[in-house]
Order: sequence, then structure tokens, then C-alpha cells
Amino acid sequence: NQTNNRFPEMFMWGGATAANQLEGAYLEGGKGLNLADVLPGGSSRIKLLNKPGFNFEIDQSKYVYPNHDGIDFYHRYKEDIALLSEMGFKVFRLSIAWSRIFPNGDELKPNEEGLAFYERVFDELLKYDIEPIVTIAHYETPLHLIKEYGGWRNRKLVDFFERYATVLFNRYKDKVKYWLTFNEINSATHMPLLGLGFSPDSEETRLQDSFQGLHHQFVASAKAVKLGHEIIPNAQIGCMLLYATTYSYDSNPENVMHALEEARIFNNFCGDVQVRGKYPSFIKRYFNENNISIEMEDGDLELIKEGTVDFISLSYYMSRTEKKSKTLEEGGEGNLIGGVKNPFLKSSDWGWEIDPIGLRIALNELYDRYQVPLFVVENGLGAYDKVEDDGTINDDYRIDYLREHIKAMGEAIKDGVDLIGYTSWGCIDLVSASTGQMSKRYGFIYVDKNDDGSGTLERSKKKSFNWYKDVIESNGTVI
Ligand code: BG6
Repeated sequence: NQTNNRFPEMFMWGGATAANQLEGAYLEGGKGLNLADVLPGGSSRIKLLNKPGFNFEIDQSKYVYPNHDGIDFYHRYKEDIALLSEMGFKVFRLSIAWSRIFPNGDELKPNEEGLAFYERVFDELLKYDIEPIVTIAHYETPLHLIKEYGGWRNRKLVDFFERYATVLFNRYKDKVKYWLTFNEINSATHMPLLGLGFSPDSEETRLQDSFQGLHHQFVASAKAVKLGHEIIPNAQIGCMLLYATTYSYDSNPENVMHALEEARIFNNFCGDVQVRGKYPSFIKRYFNENNISIEMEDGDLELIKEGTVDFISLSYYMSRTEKKSKTLEEGGEGNLIGGVKNPFLKSSDWGWEIDPIGLRIALNELYDRYQVPLFVVENGLGAYDKVEDDGTINDDYRIDYLREHIKAMGEAIKDGVDLIGYTSWGCIDLVSASTGQMSKRYGFIYVDKNDDGSGTLERSKKKSFNWYKDVIESNGTVI
């Protein structure tokens, strides 16, 4: 399959992961507990994530905790990085587990063993000329900050985060140029536990507390951007948005207006603050109508203005279709971010609607709005894989999904979008964030581990491994 899409010469091809979903070794190297360590595997996870008042008091003996061992990247990173290099990766996105560096989150001194671990990982990547892209906070708030401080509702987390980011920038200034502050920052109002480290006391307080927490993260992110640039002169620091291209269900102006309103709050609000450096005018009415009032300190708005990001990174898995009044049956059937079913789209086995054109639209919308470089740092298909008797894994469905999304990026580049890279999600199988399953696989590399925790952890190449290698080798022309 040849395409004429021209990806830029230096296009950053690679894959993406997060510490809590692959490292394992949850109590090794002086690490403290974090949110992911106390989330059980299976469908109960998503219920807990959405349940107001969840306080972690569940009978642990009834559940498995898949993030505890992850895929044991902590001990196997050399083998894994060698495989990524075989695919020709130019970049690798990973996160740092905050609680490896500050086990409780509020200490004054960092944990040297944690710092040394990531140093070894970066050195290994650099040995193969793979550039690390580092997410500073990826759904893994130290548990102590959640339990003792109430997560990001509490202003004190801004200072703890600043200390943490400063340590990272100083320690890794010669090894890491690309940084992302908060993973999918805009997902906060939907799942505050993941992004903001608290479970809302009730549905009534969800929005107020989430937007207050977001304000704290905006300040923390702006501080990190300023510090990062001071400490690492050539640093490129981005925000990270969960982008869900939003359609109106039909041409009824009521629905069109509703879709616009939803898109502005979900897709645009955080980007407007982090890229343009100020709260957008549309948010005032939304805050008024929802009784939201944000406590700010003197100087916050200046900081937000001064600490704007260098680029936008985004995850893109699915689009969203909105209708003003919807019946229960019309609900989005598992599209995590809501909406109604789109009759034109097929869904993954987890109900996420597959929409490559939506990615082209997303990139155009973002570039039209902000004119800063864009980086797709997550995209992929969570699917069940079957290991054949001869050991092969023929994941053509994954290849098809990725091919169509890569073509869509090529079209966006032709449209004039400044797209600088693509890291597909879960390039090596890892634990799912929303369900804790291993069977929801995204990788080019298969990891022999099952939902119940059994398995040899052995790695093997899927059919998509060589396919992606060819994509990278040909810079996106042979797909
Ligand atoms: C993104 C997250 O929302 O989606 C990742 O940043 C996550 O951490 C990915 O793994 C895919 O979601 P899931 O639930 O299939 O793992």
C-alpha cells in the first residue's frame, strides 16, 4: 500500500506508554504507592473511577491488582528497548512515576534509587538514538497526596509538583528535551480520580472541585514550563489533551449548538488556557450556570500567561456525536466521553467508535485554532489477540486501524497542519488504564500475561511489528 503522503523529514515515529501500566515493581526501589497501585483489575475499576465518595476501602483479597507487576518493564527495559529499536523507533514516550521520585509526594528530598532507574532507562534509549518523551504526571498521583491532601483540589499540590518537576529537569537536562506536563488534562471532569486524584464527594460537587483542581494544574503546568525553559534551554514542553472530535447528530441547529458547547468545554477549554495563556471568554457563562467559582491567588493569571506550552500533544481514539436530548438507548455505548451512537461508525470490542477522518478533523481544528506544532502521542486499537498454534499473532485489525489513522495524518499534513510526530499507544502490550485488563491489547509486541496475572511475561512480535517497522523506514509512505 503506497501513499503519496509526505511526512516531514524529521517526523518523530514511535510509541507511547505510562509508568504505572508497564513498570511493575510497585514496591521496589523505594517507590511509594500511587493511585494505580490501588485500582483493581476488571470491569469494577471503571465503576470505582466513576463512583462519588470512593475512599479505597474495598476488600483487596477479592481482586487482582495488575499494575503491581505490570509487564515488569522495571527489570526488562533493556530487552524491550532493543525491540523498539528494531522497529526503528525515533522516539519513545514514557511517564515518570511521581512516587518513585517522591514516595509520598510531599517530601523535601527525592529518592535517589528512583532517579537512578529513569537515568538508566534514558541512557538505554539514547544508546539506540531513541529520543525520550516524558510525561511528568500520567494518572499516577502518589496515594499519600490523595488520602492526606484530597488530591488536586488542594493548592498545596502545586508546590509539591513544582519541586518534583524541578528535580526532574535538573537531573535529566542533558538527556530529555521533550516533556509533557499533565496527561489528558481535560479528562478531569469526567474521571477526576484519574487526573486529579480525588473522588468527588457527590455529583453536585463534581464540577466545582474538578475545575478548581484543573486551575491548580494550570498553575502547576505553567510553573513547570517556565522552570523547564530556564533549566533546559532547548526544552520543548507540551500540554496533553484527550481530543474527541465532536459532531452534531444531525443538522438540527439545537443539536449543532449543543455539540459546539460540549466541544468547547471538553476539547478547547484546557488548550485555550495552556496555549493561549488565558481563560477563554465562553467559560464565564458555563461557570455561572453551573455555580462554579474558582479560587485564584494573586499572580496566577500572569503565571498562566507566561507559562504557555511550546506544542500541543494529543491522544485520539474516537470521536463523539452529540444530541441535545437523548434517550437512554441512544447513549454512547462505551464511548468514554459520552454522546450518542454514530450510525456511520463501527466500534472496537470495548465500544470505542473508530473514526480516522475524525483525526484529520481534530488536527485541522487544533491547528486552525492555535497555530502551534501538534504531536499525536496516543492512538491505537485495544483488541483481543489470538496466539496461533505456531506462535504467530495475526493482528490485521490493528494494522488496518493504524493504517487508516496514519493516512488521515498524512492528509492533515497536506492540509497544512504542522504535525511533528506520532507515538501509537501501548506499543508493547500493557495494563489498560480504564479496565486494568491485559486482554485489552494495543501492542506491536505481545506480552504473555493474562487478566488473572498468570503468564510467562515472555515477549513476541505480532504481525504489526514488521508492518510498523516498514512504515517508519519509509517515513509513512509504505503503509
Ligand atoms: C488514554 C490514557 O486515555 O488511553 C492511557 O492516557 C490509556 O493511559 C489509553 O491506557 C487507552 O485506554 P485504555 O483504558 O484502553 O487503557
